[in-house]
Amino acid sequence: MTRVFSGVKPTGHLTLGNYLGAMRQWAAVDQHRADALFCIVDLHALTVDHDPARVRRLSRQAATLLLAVGLDPALCTVFVQSHVDEHARLSYVLECVATDGEMRRMIQYKEKAARERERGGSVRLSLLTYPVLMAADILVYGADEVPVGDDQAQHVELTRDLAVRFNQRYGHTFVVPKASLPTVAARVMNLQEPTSKMGKSDDSGPGIVYLLDEPDVVRKKITRAVTDSGREIVYDRQERPGVANLLEILAACTGGNPEALSGVYESYGSLKKDTAEAVVELLSPVQERHRALCADPGYVEGVLRDGAERARALARPTVDAAYRAIGLLPAASDTGAEVVLNAAR
Ligand code: AMP
Ligand code: TRP
Repeated sequence: MTRVFSGVKPTGHLTLGNYLGAMRQWAAVDQHRADALFCIVDLHALTVDHDPARVRRLSRQAATLLLAVGLDPALCTVFVQSHVDEHARLSYVLECVATDGEMRRMIQYKEKAARERERGGSVRLSLLTYPVLMAADILVYGADEVPVGDDQAQHVELTRDLAVRFNQRYGHTFVVPKASLPTVAARVMNLQEPTSKMGKSDDSGPGIVYLLDEPDVVRKKITRAVTDSGREIVYDRQERPGVANLLEILAACTGGNPEALSGVYESYGSLKKDTAEAVVELLSPVQERHRALCADPGYVEGVLRDGAERARALARPTVDAAYRAIGLLPAASDTGAEVVLNAAR
């Protein structure tokens, strides 16, 4: 059976971009067709300036929202990254396969590091090594596919490179995964700045629709979305990014096609109105389930406990195999250690 792995970072409240670009697909498709694991990647939230209490709160909220969007613990595994030590263990091994040049070429690193330096802050070393930890997240489970939004494609490419390199140097150990991107809304843009991604860690609230925004807040944000000069409604991501973004959001919510929808509308006003209503309708059941789950924190905790236990059992043998392959002496307690020790004699 195909193995799927994906993750979400608890660095901010989850957005419509997270939902349309990734989470919706996890719930509607991936958990039904594959052995799927979904992870709240809290270690990744420590790569930028952070408040410990906020990361804890957002991790709990992300877990609750993953269940609210429809992930079903009977069908898939939902867990928290830091509950499974194997991610960090494998990450170190992969750091011995990756190069610093490779890390410095990552777009997300360059952008975030530049932003941090502009603010006069310092860049955490973990921001540079972050893609290696992400590679470990994926490779430790032998995932075949990684459903993500477009912004993560480069990191998955790097993961493939590291897996291939490790396998060539030290013997076949890892499955070489591939990214799967949604066909519509792979990159939902900020409503106020339609040339930048709608990212949850940005602090410009009015351009970001959060999954837990009240209907009136959603309506207001979409009504105030920046559109382009020119009045006719055409779907052109380069020249008309504001309108293209609304058409993509509407298409993703209603199952339509942005190109076809562009012919339906004659004014920005009616496009915005329909888009706002489509988003409100899409989010309403998620918010309702979120409220119900919040009333039962013990349930969410139980899901995370069981998820981590299953994840650990899957991850351990892969890390042990990677340790052995790269030349580390097995400890007596490792899976299969005796066999290797005997073979080495
Ligand atoms: P993150 O918020 O960076 O943890 O991302 C979690 C998942 O949501 C990843 O698969 C991202 O690629 C996806 N994602 C985040 N923001 C967007 C966006 N604006 N449009 C589409 N997908 C997104
Ligand atoms: N880097 C991803 C993001 O910012 C989150 C992530 C971490 C992830 N590890 C992963 C996604 C493994 C997919 C697979 O969105």
